[in-house]
Amino acid sequence: MGKNRILSGIQPTGNLHLGNYLGAIRNWVNLQEEYDSFLFLADLHAITVPHDPAKLAENTYEAAATYIACGIDPQKSTVFVQSHISAHSELAWLFNCITPLNWLERMIQFKEKAVKQGENVTVGLLDYPVLQAADILLYEPDRVPVGEDQKQHVELTRDIANRLNFQYGSEENPIIKVPEPLIQAAGARVMSLADGTKKMSKSDPSEMSRIDLVDPPEVIQRKIKRCKTDPVRGLEFDNAERPECNNLLTLYTLLSGQTKEAVATECADMGWGQFKPLLTETMVEALKPIQDKFHGLMSDRTYLESILQQGREKAEAIALMTLEKTKTALGYSKPL
Ligand code: ADP
Ligand code: TRP
Repeated sequence: MGKNRILSGIQPTGNLHLGNYLGAIRNWVNLQEEYDSFLFLADLHAITVPHDPAKLAENTYEAAATYIACGIDPQKSTVFVQSHISAHSELAWLFNCITPLNWLERMIQFKEKAVKQGENVTVGLLDYPVLQAADILLYEPDRVPVGEDQKQHVELTRDIANRLNFQYGSEENPIIKVPEPLIQAAGARVMSLADGTKKMSKSDPSEMSRIDLVDPPEVIQRKIKRCKTDPVRGLEFDNAERPECNNLLTLYTLLSGQTKEAVATECADMGWGQFKPLLTETMVEALKPIQDKFHGLMSDRTYLESILQQGREKAEAIALMTLEKTKTALGYSKPL
């Protein structure tokens, strides 16, 4: 029996931040020991919001370097770029033709993003989860590790797979494997530094709301110094009236590697003036090895490109097999 497989990806739409690391990449680093891992850069998804063509390729390389800097090992995981494998777009088209429109109109992320884009909402934004279903199902993974916000998209993926199997396959002979989401509880949601009830996000217009993984120490210090807190003395987890307090303590817990109980005791009597420098120092220290490795990788483009090329070859071989069997099930003939 081979290892079970996982697949996940992030859109390279800007610098990756602490939420991406603690909610996603850090989990993949652990999972790659146990699973056959496929981790990619979702650069086709990146153009579903207005984008700058001059930055797309660079952002994609930077995100790939970030994966590796965070501990994704190209010897253990297959790392590749979505747009390098055209099977993603092709399978998305086939899925478009079996996905009811109202399944997409229901997606929370679409509704949220559509509000922001007003009249410029594209078909691509609506269709985003179908492309995501193609990304996933092409590799027939057992599990899809994502943050909580992506759970609905993985559920839609399961619905699309089941529909394909039901309409064009049979119960004994399903066409495609139906994956399960894998949601990691601790740190599953890192909140904005400006508002503890909103998630930290690349798309927040304020840079002060997030810590980018490449932020230098002085920037981290400034962001923590200015981040939103409350006037209560003494720090505690899980008080719904104090979302910022819970978020900052959670960040400290995750970055210092301590248990929640230990942090609750350590910080119970602290004021913000004492806690903020502690959090800053812990964050700077936790990010330093990642940043050193990131800068090293970005200055050796040939090495980075060779990793992505190897990843592409391995991933594409699998993707083409899945595409082929789906096309056959839908009734296409092979070209001579
Ligand atoms: P963003 O919202 O910043 O654009 P993405 O939607 O590209 O980030 O998310 C990439 C991955 O990182 C997903 O698996 C997502 O669940 C995770 N992620 C993003 N933001 C956070 C966050 N604030 N907390 C935890 N995980 C997050
Ligand atoms: N939509 C995901 C996000 O914003 C990125 C993504 C695209 C993805 N395709 C995927 C995640 C396939 C998991 C599996 O984070």
